[in-house]
Amino acid sequence: MPTLATTVNGLKFPNPFIIASGPPSANGKVISKAFDEGWGAAVCKTVSLDASKIVNVTPRYARLRANQSREVYGWENIELISDRSFDLWLDEFKAVKDKHADRILIASIMEEYTKDAWLEIVERCQDTGIDALELNFSCPHGLPERKMGSAMGQDPEIVDEICRWVNRAAKVPVWAKMTPNITHIAEPGRAALDAGCEGLSGINTILCVMGINLDTLRPEPTVKGYSVPGGYSSTAIRPIALRMVMELAQMMRQEFPDRTLSGIGGIESGTDAAQFILFGADTVQVCTGVMKHGYPIIQRMCDELYSFMAKHNFETIDDFKGHSLRFVTTHADLVRRQTGTQTPTDSKAVTQDTDWKGDEVVEQSDRLASN
Ligand SMILES: Cc1cc2nc3c(=O)[nH]c(=O)nc-3n(C[C@H](O)[C@H](O)[C@H](O)COP(=O)(O)O)c2cc1C
Repeated sequence: MPTLATTVNGLKFPNPFIIASGPPSANGKVISKAFDEGWGAAVCKTVSLDASKIVNVTPRYARLRANQSREVYGWENIELISDRSFDLWLDEFKAVKDKHADRILIASIMEEYTKDAWLEIVERCQDTGIDALELNFSCPHGLPERKMGSAMGQDPEIVDEICRWVNRAAKVPVWAKMTPNITHIAEPGRAALDAGCEGLSGINTILCVMGINLDTLRPEPTVKGYSVPGGYSSTAIRPIALRMVMELAQMMRQEFPDRTLSGIGGIESGTDAAQFILFGADTVQVCTGVMKHGYPIIQRMCDELYSFMAKHNFETIDDFKGHSLRFVTTHADLVRRQTGTQTPTDSKAVTQDTDWKGDEVVEQSDRLASN
C-alpha cells in the first residue's frame, strides 16, 4: 500500500501538498480551513515587521482564459505581502499550531536589507512554535521598489549574506524561495544552500503584463487608468516551473544531496505533483489552484497522486523522487541516440527544412509533435 506521508528536514508531513504563500494562507482562519480539508502543510502569506508600509490596490489580479471553454490558465497579480500586523500573525501562528499540532506550519518572512530586522523576524516567528521558515527572495512586484523580494533574490551575494544571518539565529529548518526572474536560477539557489539553508522552494511568479484593453488602450490590471507589470502564475507557468525545478534539483544532487526542494508553479492535480517529484521535489506547493477551485481540491490531488504511485508500484514519495532527472541530456546526445535508428516512424513527417510545404504547415507541425 503506497503512503503519501513523508519526512522532510525531520518534519513529518501527512502528505506532500502544501498551501503556498498567498491569499489561501492570508490569515489563521483560512490556514485552519486548509488543514481541516486535508492539506499537509501551509506557508503563510509573507509577513514583515511593519505592515503599515503594505498598501494594496484594487483590482490587483488579471486573468488569461481559453477562448472556447473560458477556463482560466494564466493569472497575474500585483498583490503585496501581508498587510496584517506582525503581532496579530504571531498570535495566529500559536493558535493554528495549538489546533493542528499534526500539520506543518511554515512562516514566510521578508524584511529590508538590515541584519537586525532579519534576526528579529526570525526569532519572534520561531518562538511561536512554527515548524519552519521560508525566506521570500522572490516577490517580483511592488517590494523590489523597496529593494526587497526578487531584488534580493536576483543577487547571489545578498542571498548569501541574509541566509547567513538567518541561519545563525534559526532553530527550525529554513527554505529560501527562489525567483524565476533570472537567467540561471541555480546561482542564488547555491548561495542559499552554501549559507546553510536546509532547502529551496520555487518558483515564485514570473514577471508579466497580462494584456492591453483595446477599448481603453490601458494595460491590465488597470488601477485608475495605470498599471505595473505583475507576477504570472497558474497552469500556464507549469512547464517553466518544471524546468527551473529541474535545474535546481540537478545542482542540488551534485552539490547538496542532503538538502530538500519544494516545487511550485501551476500545480493543480496529483499528476502535476508527480511530475515535480519525478524531477526532484520533496514537497509541492499550490496557490492559484486553490484560488480557482477551493481548498477541497486536496482530496482529488491526493487520490490522483496515490493512483499514480499504485500504478508504478511506488510505496513512498522517496521511491520516485528525482527518478526522471536521469532522462534529461544534451541535444547532441539525442542526435547521437537517434542516428542509425529507424526514425521517424511516420514517413510523412518532415525530416529536413526543404520538406515544409506552404499549404500543409499545420498538418506537418502536428506530425512533429510528441503528444
Ligand atoms: C495573489 C497571489 C499572491 C501571492 N503572494 C505571495 C506572497 O505573499 N509570498 C510568496 O512567497 N509568494 C506569493 N505568491 C506566489 C505563490 O506562492 C506561488 O509561488 C506562485 O503563485 C506560483 O504558484 P501557483 O501557480 O500555484 O500559484 C502569490 C501568488 C499569488 C497568485
